[in-house]
Amino acid sequence: MRFISPSILAADPGRLSNEAEAIASAGADWLHLDVMDGHFVPNITYGPWIVELAKKAVNIPLDAHLMVSDPLFWAPIFAQKGAHYVSVHLEATVHLHKVLSSIRDLGVKSGVAINPATPIGNLVPALPWLDLIIVMGVNPGFAGQPFIPETVSRVKELKGLLEDKGAKEILIEVDGGVTDQNAKALWDAGADALVSGSFLFKSSDKAATIKDLRKA
Ligand code: DX5
Ligand code: ZN
Repeated sequence: MRFISPSILAADPGRLSNEAEAIASAGADWLHLDVMDGHFVPNITYGPWIVELAKKAVNIPLDAHLMVSDPLFWAPIFAQKGAHYVSVHLEATVHLHKVLSSIRDLGVKSGVAINPATPIGNLVPALPWLDLIIVMGVNPGFAGQPFIPETVSRVKELKGLLEDKGAKEILIEVDGGVTDQNAKALWDAGADALVSGSFLFKSSDKAATIKDLRKA
């Protein structure tokens, strides 16, 4: 399966519910919620209310990406609100097992996001506790940044690692800088899901752009 997860970070912030509804109607598989605390990343976005707002607007799975310094505190809160996936940053906690367990204990799928400069091999100890791995294609913090090309080989490396370790059921998502120029390389490298922010929300025909990205 190939999942497209639009990031509403790139939507009109004054019309979030309408934008979420419209992108779901355009064929989005998941809805990506970028949560930033102004500390782990130099930007601030939404609190847990974003999950409530999105749940009212759409029926597709909510893919919450927490870019926060205290995931031990925030992850269970976002899980309780009803996100389908809650992902935290590998770099943000020394208590990853505890954080991921707190998500799964609430019946929610657990994810980890990995920054461009963090070795892929650092994910190995966490594989048994994971449902989703988000490979960042940019340094987290803002939509609309250029894609870091080395991401493609990192996805390939991760795909090989998951096969070697017998962890093929873990989904690989790529987040940041995804466009029609790199989507094919990312699918070919082993991605199962692509986040799209600026590229998708700037397009005039979002349904066609979702289809194009999926089929790239
Ligand atoms: C970056 C976010 C991404 C980003 C996606 O911190 O995690 O989800 O907003 O937007 P684009 O596709 O514009 O990079
Ligand atoms: Zn994100």
